[in-house]
Amino acid sequence: MSIDPAQFRHVLGHFPTGVTVITATLADGTPVGFTIGSFTSVSLDPPLVGFLPMNDSARWAQIDGSGSFCVNILAADQGELCWRFAKTSIDHPFEGVPWQPSPITGSPLIDGVIAWIDCRIENVVEAGDHVFVLGRVLQLEHVDPATDPAPLLFFRGQLGDFRVLS
Ligand SMILES: Cc1cc2nc3c(=O)[nH]c(=O)nc-3n(C[C@H](O)[C@H](O)[C@H](O)COP(=O)(O)O)c2cc1C
Repeated sequence: MSIDPAQFRHVLGHFPTGVTVITATLADGTPVGFTIGSFTSVSLDPPLVGFLPMNDSARWAQIDGSGSFCVNILAADQGELCWRFAKTSIDHPFEGVPWQPSPITGSPLIDGVIAWIDCRIENVVEAGDHVFVLGRVLQLEHVDPATDPAPLLFFRGQLGDFRVLS
């Protein structure tokens, strides 16, 4: 039975995700990054995380070439960054976005994220029209829990935030 791509997208859109911007710094110092919802924790020992970019993504090709990346987990008030880093029409998405180099790989660590994970690319596995990127975690941190961090969430094509059910 063949699966209709529109229905595939629609049904899978019912699985809510967090929102990350995965970044790297090119050899000439240019920051690159794109919005990724398929980020996941993979392994504790060794420490691995993963995500799935399109295999023909220009930005993935740049990040792949850099050999490393930083995962920026967006906060609920960073919805504008989610759309900005998903648009191929924006050539310089970092314009006006404050960031610092991450401690190990020097990839952009965007101000205001609720957590970040600095990684070296460990392996890239073909996965249909995407690739599965495995990253070896080199360093990671989250914001002070006392600041009550709120994540940005994506569900059925829309952004939202997290609510604790009592
Ligand atoms: C919330 C959200 C999550 C996304 N997650 C992914 C993802 O997991 N994998 C992917 O390939 N594209 C994902 N995208 C789309 C990419 O951000 C977009 O296609 C990419 O930036 C285009 O890069 P390119 O110019 O290199 O093709 C997502 C977009 C949004 C808005």
